[in-house]
Order: sequence, then C-alpha cells, then structure tokens
Amino acid sequence: MDAQGLKDNFAQVAQHGDAVALFFYSDLFLRNPGLREMFSIGMSHQRDRLLSALGRIVAQVDNLPELVPFVRQLGADHRKFGVEALHYPEVGQSLVATLRYFSGAAWTEALARDWTDAYTLLAKVMVEAAEEDAKQRPAWWNARVIAHERRRFDLAVMRLVTDRPLPFQAGQSVAVEVPARPRMWRYYSMANAPRPDNTLDFHVRLIDGGPVSPVLVRAAVPGDWLKLGPPVGTMTFDERSGRDVLLVAGSTGLAPLKAILERIALSPAPPRVHLFFGARTTDGLYDLDDLTKRAAGSPWLTVVPAVSDDRAEGTAEQGVLADVVARHGLWRDHDAYVCGSPAMVDATTESLVRLGLGTDRIRSDKFADA
Ligand SMILES: Cc1cc2nc3c(=O)[nH]c(=O)nc-3n(C[C@H](O)[C@H](O)[C@H](O)COP(=O)(O)OP(=O)(O)OC[C@H]3O[C@@H](n4cnc5c(N)ncnc54)[C@H](O)[C@@H]3O)c2cc1C
Ligand code: HEM
Repeated sequence: MDAQGLKDNFAQVAQHGDAVALFFYSDLFLRNPGLREMFSIGMSHQRDRLLSALGRIVAQVDNLPELVPFVRQLGADHRKFGVEALHYPEVGQSLVATLRYFSGAAWTEALARDWTDAYTLLAKVMVEAAEEDAKQRPAWWNARVIAHERRRFDLAVMRLVTDRPLPFQAGQSVAVEVPARPRMWRYYSMANAPRPDNTLDFHVRLIDGGPVSPVLVRAAVPGDWLKLGPPVGTMTFDERSGRDVLLVAGSTGLAPLKAILERIALSPAPPRVHLFFGARTTDGLYDLDDLTKRAAGSPWLTVVPAVSDDRAEGTAEQGVLADVVARHGLWRDHDAYVCGSPAMVDATTESLVRLGLGTDRIRSDKFADA
C-alpha cells in the first residue's frame, strides 16, 4: 500500500472543504436510506468530526502504535450509536465514491485499490474492538439526575446515579445523550473521583446556540433519565510521577481537574497541588466556595482564583490564566494538567513551555474543536 499516495490524495480532496462531507453523507443516505435515522438531524457537528478523524487516521497510517489504540477506541465508542459490522461496507462504499468524485482526473485504479484495502483494515480493527468491548461492558449506561443546582443562569452542577457501575479514571469524560435531543451525543467530564455509590457529578456551561447544553443547564430536573457512553480521555492523574502538581482550569474545565484533585486527596501522601481556577467574571467562579473549603482542610492544596474581565476582588487575581499562572512562579518541576476552551489551553500551554516545562509534563483537554 502506498501510504504517501493516500495522504496526498486525502489532502487534495480535503481542499474542497464542507462539500466533501456533504457529498459523502448524501451518497450514504441515498444508497442506504435506513441509515439516516442513526444520525442526528442537524449534522454539522458530526460532519467535520468524521472527516477530521479520517484525516488523523490517514496522517498516522505509518505510525501504527499511535493509530491502533485510537481506532480501537473509536470502534468501541461506535457501539452507543447502534453501529454494527454490516454497516461498515456501506460507509466504505460511499467513502470511496466521495474520494473518487473529488479526485477527478487524479483518480487511478491503484488509488481505488489502496483506499479499499486501507478502509477494510480500518473497519476490521473497529469491528473487532467493538466485539471485544461488548464482552466486557454495555454499549451505554442509563443514569438518573438526582440533584441539579444552577449556580448562575448559564452554569449547572448536577449529580447523576448510573444503573450499573461505570468504571472510569479521574480526568475522563463520557458522551451524554438527553431524550430531548436524540442522537446528539456531547462529551462531559466527571467532576469526581470514582465513588462506590455510582454517583457522578458534572459541571455544564450553556453554550449560546448549542442544542444540548441549554437542555442540561436550564431544563434538566431530578428524576430525568440520560444515557452515558463509555469513558474516554487520557488527561488522567500520573500517580507514579511523584512530582508536585499544577492544575489550571478555565470555567467548567474545572470538572476533570476537580476529579483529579479528589483522586490526589485519596493518596496516603498527596503531593503539593496548586489549582488555578479562572473565569471572565467573578460570578463565573461557580465552585470557588467548595474549593476554598477543601483548601482549608488540606495543607497540601493552594487554590488561586483569577478573573480576566471583572476587577478582581478578595483573593482573586487579575488576568487571563496563562499570565496569572506565569506570575506565580516556576513550574519546571511540576506535572501540569490544563483544561478549558481551546484558546485558554493553547495560551496556558505556551506560557508553561516558555517557563521551561516540557510538553511531556503537560496533559490537557480541550472542550471544543480548535
Ligand atoms: C472531552 C470533552 C469534555 C467536555 N467536558 C465538558 C464539561 O465537563 N462541561 C462542559 O460544560 N462542557 C464540556 N465539553 C463541551 C461539551 O461537549 C459541549 O460541546 C458543550 O456543552 C456545548 O454543547 P451544545 O450541544 O450546546 O453545543 P455544540 O454543538 O457542542 O457546540 C456549539 C459550538 O460551541 C463550541 N463550544 C462548545 N463548548 C465550548 C466551550 N466550552 N468553549 C468554547 N466553545 C465551545 C463548539 O465547538 C461548537 O462550535 C466537553 C467537550 C469535550 C470534547
Ligand atoms: C472507518 C470508519 C469510521 C470512522 C473513522 C468514523 C468516525 C466517526 C467519528 C470521529 C465520530 C464522532 C464521534 C464522537 O464525537 O464521539 C463518528 C460518529 C458517528 N458515526 Fe462514525 N466512523 C466510522 C464508521 C461509521 C460507520 C460504519 C457507521 C454506521 C453507519 C458510523 C456511524 C456514526 C454515527 C451514527 C455517529 C454519530 C453521529 C451523530 O452525532 O449524529 N460510523 N464517527
């Protein structure tokens, strides 16, 4: 298989932008009308995800150690969408038709063969991973809302209880589906370390114009049932490192870092932890009371709130997190965990690298596509 040929061809096709996804899905649904109901109605969210995943797969086609775990996870994650082995050839056919259409005169028999071989292998890995996953855990969990607290009109802290244990590591997220928005799965991070009573906390911020977050923040009430997918994410606590810890949270980016904080609190000898919690305005620091209480009871924990737009009051620092963190010292000997919007994560990471922290010591999660 000519890996470089596939990469070049994909790059050429991707230049056609949104039209590629539009062609692919219309081809898929024309050939297989039955598949349409598997996808959500407004699909712009899904469109760039599938194509960007394909881009990532093609870019790593000659780096199997990185690629295989990603593809296996993707295959297992597709169980919650109701995807089965028989659907893969249908998607493969439309994918090759799309590539052929946008390649124009550059399309060759060799490209057709290589794409078909590559897709067949990819589908095989995804299907096998899904089959193995099915032996170990359900495709999704049902969860009931047992508490819902609106801390501001656009910020909610909620507690769910799952119908079965959902094993996860502090720092991970799950896809959530609400009945009012069928098939629109969105990721949310658990804000607690695993508990024996199967309860999970989530922090949700309403994103203007988004379909799912307003339902969770403004409409969800105790007694509602939701579906949760399997846990994902690699921003988990490195318990073997032994180094001090820096946590940097922008808005609800706090959720997974609070889970890591709880996980650290369970250690017999916790490292020193600095947690920076930032928001634009003072009332955006929706969980500061709880964090302050935790710091008062934990000599190893320092909490630094920061606001960028309001004038800072009380213990809060003024400025964006990247600057506030930099002002507070040298983090060269720390492990850093950074979570929030793409802009905040990028700026903070850059700032830490400038201060001498290696990128291998920075784990991060972004709450939206950059
Ligand atoms: C791994 C992961 C974990 C996440 N964990 C949380 C969490 O714990 N709490 C939480 O509130 N959200 C979290 N999110 C974001 C969440 O999945 C949704 O995208 C968000 O709630 C908006 O959903 P929506 O359906 O209303 O709008 P969407 O259709 O998802 O988004 C509408 C638009 O807003 C952008 N957007 C979404 N979230 C943000 C953001 N935070 N900052 C800037 N732009 C954004 C999207 O990229 C899109 O362009 C997480 C996202 C990921 C990928
Ligand atoms: C090689 C093949 C495939 C790749 C690379 C791929 C990639 C992706 C990605 C990255 C997502 C977004 C996942 C998320 O946000 O959690 C997704 C969602 C989805 N995929 Fe696939 N996929 C593949 C095959 C398939 C097949 C065979 C089907 C079956 C018809 C399918 C159906 C879906 C559905 C229904 C969704 C959710 C859509 C929505 O949110 O509306 N995928 N896929």
